[in-house]
Amino acid sequence: MKFKITLLTLGMIAAFSSSAQATETAEGLYDAKCAACHTKTRPTDMSKVLAPALMGVMRHIKMDYPDKNEAVKFMVDYVLEPSKEKAICMPQKIERFGLMPSQKGNVTEAQLTKITGWMFDNFPPADFRGMGQGNRQGKGQGRGRGN
Ligand code: HEC
Repeated sequence: MKFKITLLTLGMIAAFSSSAQATETAEGLYDAKCAACHTKTRPTDMSKVLAPALMGVMRHIKMDYPDKNEAVKFMVDYVLEPSKEKAICMPQKIERFGLMPSQKGNVTEAQLTKITGWMFDNFPPADFRGMGQGNRQGKGQGRGRGN
């Protein structure tokens, strides 16, 4: 009897913690809510790209908002209420992809604060040099492997 209860409890803990992991870490949230449009790695097939890649977005955000708190505030607001006037990305991006659809209802403000803080801390990666340059120097290999 005691044994059964223990197993049941363990099973429940395992179920809870794995679902919390999938939804509650910042990166898990990003994967669930944002990654479908903003890829985390450099896109390999440009024809399928729906939105600027994460590293590009963060490069531009940081040019305008080098301070993390300001950047997070801007992004949380933008994701819930995007507009052409607010956008800091290049106008060509909006022409090409269209304005980002508001994610209101899909993600909460608290989740967004978590997600965008994580984005700020991890992107662009330290060795990112922008599209079309870099990458040849340094590592020597790695081109064409979709890093
Ligand atoms: C349905 C596709 C889609 C989803 C989902 C999506 N985005 Fe976007 N996002 C876009 C497009 C398209 C743009 C470029 C046009 C623009 O800036 O509005 C963009 C631009 C942005 C920008 C740059 C804003 C600026 O000033 O130009 C940020 C920051 C951003 N997205 C964050 C997020 C975050 C965080 C999530 C997840 C909660 C997310 N996006 C989910 C399509 C999407």
